[in-house]
Amino acid sequence: MKLSVPGRASTALVVAAATLLTGGAISGAAPAPVAAAAAPDLPVANVKAHLAQLQSIATANGGNRAHGRTGYKASLDYVKAKLDAAGFTTTVQQFTSSSRTGYNLIADWPGGNTNQVVMSGSHLDSVTAGPGINDNGSGSAAVLETALAVARTNYQPTKHLRFAWWGAEELGMVGSRYYVNSLSTANRSAISGYLNFDMIGSPNPGYFVYDDDPTIEKTFKTYFTGLGIATEPETEGDGRSDHAPFKNAGIPVGGLFSGADYIKTAAQAAKWGGTSGKAFDACYHSSCDTSSNINDTALDRNADALAYAVWSLSS
Ligand code: TRP
Ligand code: ZN
Repeated sequence: MKLSVPGRASTALVVAAATLLTGGAISGAAPAPVAAAAAPDLPVANVKAHLAQLQSIATANGGNRAHGRTGYKASLDYVKAKLDAAGFTTTVQQFTSSSRTGYNLIADWPGGNTNQVVMSGSHLDSVTAGPGINDNGSGSAAVLETALAVARTNYQPTKHLRFAWWGAEELGMVGSRYYVNSLSTANRSAISGYLNFDMIGSPNPGYFVYDDDPTIEKTFKTYFTGLGIATEPETEGDGRSDHAPFKNAGIPVGGLFSGADYIKTAAQAAKWGGTSGKAFDACYHSSCDTSSNINDTALDRNADALAYAVWSLSS
């Protein structure tokens, strides 16, 4: 899918992003607009290839990728190997929850101002009921492919890029909370923004943008406006995914969501297509959340929006 955002919009965006991400110490004239490096169009086939691997991992490990089960650690090993081969500095952070060992994976792209960290993350664990391909293989695969695109293009942004895959989200955002609590005050304030991706390929999709930090929200909306796609603000998600611990620590947050067990209304079906009166994801937290439980168009658009936001907010 081609990015088609008008030049004027991206120039305005770069100025706005610079305002947020420098921490707000604005004096004198606005900075001169600079052209941002163009974000890549992520091949959706690559994102789907990661999903196929996560499905195989679940199948080989009792049908799930849940916290404390072998399928979780195998998922983490898959993602980590890709990142290590691409030149990321990876860290595995271990914690205990419900008497089982959990793991977060953190990947830093060398370079950029480490006092201005643009961080993107997704939870890598599934529920025990199924393989968790939309929830949340979709976000995990899109964040992975974005990171790999950073390496492929040797993107050298002004700010520092960090990517994360969280453990034990399904037990109440345990891994992401552990990470935020483990940060020193200085390292916490070094995070300019955290972008969260949890369920972005729902089979009967909606296009929801977290209604939180205005600059991050505007960045995502600019992307979808360029595609001619309407979005709705996501507010129900407050506290329902891994952005919550960041938000509670005072870090600006944003993210994307294509819907879970709520029912698509007639008005939503009119603007987005799909089936009204049916859940956005009827397989939410079920055994049928397999690699067939994905809308490729939604996955493609949301993955491209993710890459666009990472590039725009870090340049
Ligand atoms: N992981 C979340 C959960 O299982 C998924 C979810 C439901 C969600 N509703 C949301 C994520 C709203 C973001 C926003 O509860
Ligand atoms: Zn879930």
